[in-house]
Amino acid sequence: MRNVTTSSNWSAEWWAEHDERYDALLAPMTRHLLAAAAIRPGERVVDVGCGCGNTTRLAGRAAPDGSALGVDKSPTMLAKAALRTEESGPANVRFVQADAQTHPFEPADVVLSQFGVMFFDDPVAAFANLRRAGGRLVFLCWQAMERNESRLVKRAALSPHVRVPPDQPGVGPASLADPDRIRGILTEAGYTGVELTDVREPLLVGPTADAACDFELGAPALAAAFAEAGPDAAARARDALRAAYADRETPDGVFLGYAAWLVTAG
Ligand SMILES: C[S@@+](CC[C@H](N)C(=O)[O-])C[C@H]1O[C@@H](n2cnc3c(N)ncnc32)[C@H](O)[C@@H]1O
Repeated sequence: MRNVTTSSNWSAEWWAEHDERYDALLAPMTRHLLAAAAIRPGERVVDVGCGCGNTTRLAGRAAPDGSALGVDKSPTMLAKAALRTEESGPANVRFVQADAQTHPFEPADVVLSQFGVMFFDDPVAAFANLRRAGGRLVFLCWQAMERNESRLVKRAALSPHVRVPPDQPGVGPASLADPDRIRGILTEAGYTGVELTDVREPLLVGPTADAACDFELGAPALAAAFAEAGPDAAARARDALRAAYADRETPDGVFLGYAAWLVTAG
């Protein structure tokens, strides 16, 4: 089955290089995910699109005498997952490189995902495959761009100067932004008791405006747009983003609002 992870704003190399930063950025979201998963000792957990494995390791720690299996199709992300797990455990965690859309999962008590289920080519077939593992389903996915202050601020600052690629509705990170679409897909895949919780958190995009700006613009997502715009426009875009972040800088760093759906089903 084809998979649409390779959207222009995604780079496994960049993410894996900065995994601790992403883990810290997403930590408030992760807390919602794990609270909803309510993992108990002895349970078997599958983490879909586990990336560098932070949530897999947290799930493993929440399930002593149980297990956590992280599944990801990116060897780059999984290499970092293996390294981090070697450093810190826990011992009941394993990783497998596989396409979650078709992987023949062993029976599980919990199937969870932190922003790893929005890239399926055929979401109904993919979720039906996850359902075959059994257990309760708990995942986070992004809400629409206009509900994510982080995206709005970035777009407003940059788009007068560089061509920011438009979001593609129904594709990539925002593919599950529509609650009716989530309910429809999961119901068709055979899930029942689908519930959505509106989760909004200010997330730390950087310790200072400069650091936040450098990180955002260091990511490969916008490299092509900046190169195309030329050095003068690129400099103006950078200044505009730095100024937007400076407006939001606090002694604890730059925080911007993010909105996700926390989805549970059985
Ligand atoms: C946005 S990252 C999130 C990673 C991780 N869950 C986290 O929160 O740090 C999405 C991950 O999903 C993985 N992914 C996307 N489609 C997949 C599929 N069909 N099967 C397995 N992994 C997939 C990507 O390789 C990527 O590592």
